[in-house]
Amino acid sequence: MTFENLPIRQKLMAIVLGTSAVVLLIVCSTFLGYEFVTFRQSSVQQLSTLGEIIATNSTAALAFSNRDDATEVLAALAAEHHVVNACLYDKQGRLFVRYPSSSSEAAFPSAPGPDGYHFMAGHLVGFAPVTQVQGQRLGTLYIKSDLGALYDRLRLYGAIAILAIIGSSLVAFTLSRKLQQQISRPILSLAAAARAVSDRQDYSVRARRFGDDELGLLTAAFNEMLGRIEAQNLALQRAYDDLRQTQQAITQQERLRALGQMASGIAHDINNAISPASLYAESLLEREPNLSARTREYLTTIQRAIDDVAQTVSRLREFYRQREPQLILIPVNLNQMVEQVVELTRAHWEDMAQQRGVAISTQMDLSFAPALVLGVESEIREALTNLVFNAVDAMPEGGTLTLRTSLAPDRNTAGQAERAAFAGVEVSDTGVGMDEETKRRCLEPFFTTKGERGTGLGLAMVYGMMRRHDAKIEIDSAPGMGTTIRLLFPLPETAVGLPAGVGAGPLASSPLRVLVVDDDLVLLKSLTATLADEGHDVVPAQGGQAGIDAFLAAQASDRPFAVVITDLGMPNVDGRRVASAVKSVSPGTPVFMLTGWGQGMAAEGEVPQHVDLMLTKPPKLRQLREALASV
Ligand SMILES: Nc1ncnc2c1ncn2[C@@H]1O[C@H](COP(=O)(O)OP(=O)(O)OP(=O)(O)O)[C@@H](O)[C@H]1O
Ligand SMILES: [Mg+2]
Repeated sequence: MTFENLPIRQKLMAIVLGTSAVVLLIVCSTFLGYEFVTFRQSSVQQLSTLGEIIATNSTAALAFSNRDDATEVLAALAAEHHVVNACLYDKQGRLFVRYPSSSSEAAFPSAPGPDGYHFMAGHLVGFAPVTQVQGQRLGTLYIKSDLGALYDRLRLYGAIAILAIIGSSLVAFTLSRKLQQQISRPILSLAAAARAVSDRQDYSVRARRFGDDELGLLTAAFNEMLGRIEAQNLALQRAYDDLRQTQQAITQQERLRALGQMASGIAHDINNAISPASLYAESLLEREPNLSARTREYLTTIQRAIDDVAQTVSRLREFYRQREPQLILIPVNLNQMVEQVVELTRAHWEDMAQQRGVAISTQMDLSFAPALVLGVESEIREALTNLVFNAVDAMPEGGTLTLRTSLAPDRNTAGQAERAAFAGVEVSDTGVGMDEETKRRCLEPFFTTKGERGTGLGLAMVYGMMRRHDAKIEIDSAPGMGTTIRLLFPLPETAVGLPAGVGAGPLASSPLRVLVVDDDLVLLKSLTATLADEGHDVVPAQGGQAGIDAFLAAQASDRPFAVVITDLGMPNVDGRRVASAVKSVSPGTPVFMLTGWGQGMAAEGEVPQHVDLMLTKPPKLRQLREALASV
């Protein structure tokens, strides 16, 4: 492994140890060099002093050529271990005596060299003059010393230096081991954080900060950078999720819109196809007294089948139908609506649960503030009823059904000055839940997982209702986890007040003077009686002309009609002419048109002129009440 690839801890240790070792080496070698030089100088000094002493002591022996004395003087050198040998030359340069006396003559220079000392072949050699006091030269002393002392000393110093290097390296190692952490720890912590980020894409990790030095600043900057990346990542993820959700919602809307178009076309064609069959069956049954029992039975079966188809088509219509432009939305109290729906459906789910021998408990969690939205009460009620039925179906083993209302701020403007933007009503169950596929497709008409038991039109109708109310539908569900379906109605900009009577009871409206025009006497009678039961002052008129006459007469009197309900298809003077006659004298009087074709016409936006509201035949009491309540 190269130095670059070493872990930072080892790198730091290597740097510290290497540096201290090099420094010690330089210091030791400087000392050794110095010692070497000074020791050589002092060796020369010492030997020359010794030489001088010996030379002085040898003066007499040389002067008298006394070999014994001379030998004795040289023998004193025995005390100096490093003196290898020495000799004295006489005045003529001849070898006079040798030290040690046993050494051979060949070990000595044959003649004395110039005075002075010098190093030669690992030895220090020198020649010193032996002179008399008067300065007369008597001979020469030769002395040769080995450099053992120098080498001994150098060896000792070398050993000390090595020991010092080893010892100080150990100390440096121990110290640097401890101290390098000051640098390596923050770097390692940074490296660990960086690794966590790159390995796991985890931007929530933070490196630990150990101080305020440059590494501390680096750590702080790194952490801040991570924080920013994390925040940006989060924002990006949120934007992506929003985008995906929006994309899914748009795709779903597109699909449902296409389905709506298709359903509308099919419904139209089916209606056209079954109309003559229905009419003929009905007229045969009514007008042919001589039908055999079998024919009558067949015709009745045909008629029932046609009614079933018509019923399905009219439910399907709820899915794609647009909101009638002239429809006046009235304030609806969701809290009261929830209570009503629970009461209305109670029999159904209690029976169902009883049959299966299980228990379904209900909970109502109503918002403190009355959740008032603008809408068509009957449609909202029907939607909630559908949701309750679905919830009950989803709990074959029993469970809890919860209906909840709440006011919710707009999620898109969350954080800004908040005003509740939606009134929500949700139906939750603790049932089987939906898988992804079911959740995605449950709003489609005819999508059902209930086989023969379900038409798959319930949620499609809820969806149609929500679309007509510009409302949103949210579905939370997972297999085994129950289902919550939330309907979010946009709240009007200004709070709506609840008009007296509306919502308090089941759609009671104040008593009105009503003109009912129809050519069908049976219908006219039943309509008059029903509305009179509701507390209205009802005047029937059979046929268009009779209706116009009655209206004009009342207009001239002091008791004009508050509202006119007329049939569309009447011989001679039809509903359109009645409506235009009414509006020409009293444009403010509402005209409701009752028709068997109203559905198709309204769907295609063909509401006749002068008509305020289309009502379908057979008229539903609830629709009538609602219509009259809006007057
Ligand atoms: N609360 C719920 N829990 C589980 N699944 C549900 C729930 N509500 C709806 N679904 C699923 O959505 C499908 C469609 O529901 P929808 O109400 O449109 O039709 P349906 O209930 O099957 O038939 P119908 O309403 O005509 O009786 C259901 O078949 C069911 O699979
Ligand atoms: Mg259903």
